[in-house]
Amino acid sequence: MDSSFDAALDAAAPGRILRDADAMARYSTDWTRRWTGSPRAVARPRSVEDVAAVLAVCNDHRVSVVPQGGNTGLVGGAVPADGSVVVTTEALTSTSDVREDGSVTVGAGVTLHELERLAQENGRTTGLALASGASATVGGVASTNAGGARVLRYGTARDRIGGLRAVLANGEVVDRRVGLRKDNTGYDLTNLLVGSEGTLAVITDVTWKLVAPHRDRLVLAFAFPDSGSAADALTTLLSFPGLDAVEWAAGSAVKRAAALLDTTPPLPTDGFWVFVELGDSDVGDRSLVDASAPVIDSLTASGLDADRIAVAVSVTERRALWSFRERITESVSAAGVPVKLDVGVPVHEFCAFVDALPSTVHGVDAAAIPVLFGHFAESNIHVNILPGSGTFSEAVAEALEDAVLDHVLSVGGTVSAEHGVGRAKRRWLTRQRGAVQVQAMAAIKNAWDPHSILNPGVLFDRGQAAI
Ligand code: MLT
Ligand code: ZN
Repeated sequence: MDSSFDAALDAAAPGRILRDADAMARYSTDWTRRWTGSPRAVARPRSVEDVAAVLAVCNDHRVSVVPQGGNTGLVGGAVPADGSVVVTTEALTSTSDVREDGSVTVGAGVTLHELERLAQENGRTTGLALASGASATVGGVASTNAGGARVLRYGTARDRIGGLRAVLANGEVVDRRVGLRKDNTGYDLTNLLVGSEGTLAVITDVTWKLVAPHRDRLVLAFAFPDSGSAADALTTLLSFPGLDAVEWAAGSAVKRAAALLDTTPPLPTDGFWVFVELGDSDVGDRSLVDASAPVIDSLTASGLDADRIAVAVSVTERRALWSFRERITESVSAAGVPVKLDVGVPVHEFCAFVDALPSTVHGVDAAAIPVLFGHFAESNIHVNILPGSGTFSEAVAEALEDAVLDHVLSVGGTVSAEHGVGRAKRRWLTRQRGAVQVQAMAAIKNAWDPHSILNPGVLFDRGQAAI
């Protein structure tokens, strides 16, 4: 690459380009430590104009651009291709006033927790709960259509995003920060960009639809003896009034979180835990404890021992109980570099699939350790697989992915329920969506990014988009 590119990049965002290897290190490896890349530079634009100028230069010189938010993704979707320019959105932190309809427009680099603080200062909440919320940015959440614990009530990021602004590969700006709840004119570009994983544009601003908060919450945990009894109880669990979340974790996964927290779980860890979170917005004048009592009675009448139920009322108790679910990811990473899969199966297949997973995994590597948890209401299973010792070779990691994902597809599931495709799942995209749909996606990619500079190797195999 000629030095005229470097000079043009410096001129596009003066003083905002990093080239020092140490300074670039934290943008070069993903959160799971499974993927790493060698960017030629990291651009830290402060405005949409900076982003536009950087992209125009990269497009002219055919240099790849890797958009990056908080770098908390789990599928390698923000890992720099070698020789690329990382465009981090971390300095795009503008915020608008909260409008009368509860919407607010913020820069892509605002973290989810900062947005939540802003929402609460204005008597509202974001409706999105991610364990990574302190680092995950609104732009990253938008471009991956993040889910999290409260999808059951508030939907995924897509349901909360009312508009956005984004810079196309050639530096042109698409502005859809519309303050309108209804606007039925033409293609929905906002929804196309949400979940496009940085392959079509760099999202610079997001209009978020905040929601009314609850006055009170209640968190419950149920330690079912096995997955079958939990699955049998699903309909009853879904009848709790005021449901925000129904999550799950294998008892062995809860044990890992407890070890990380240096504490003892309040319930037995032999089986299958379900966590339920309730909010009081739609239970009338009743307390959540009173409103939930009939459902708890029904669970105990069906055979669940009362000493397998924990109820957390105060904020401190609720946080402590949630942490046995929320801290599992961290406990897995503390133990090694996992193969991380994020699958969904039809609800009637859930139990058989979860029960078969250990033998599926051990068929490939008898020493591998599956750690299972996820979002019960959505039949979403986070299959984390740790090596018995050391690290997995790339061949074993792929064989583990193949074994689990083959099984997923054979029961009509999805190879990515919420984390996206990134690099990790791209070789599964055609099997999941079929050649016709992948070609339809590739046609959009080619039209929007004809030189394929945006996030190459993510979503599509390199070259696949140029069909
Ligand atoms: C979660 O639900 O905790 C996240 O998706 C993180 C993970 O899968 O590790
Ligand atoms: Zn999740």
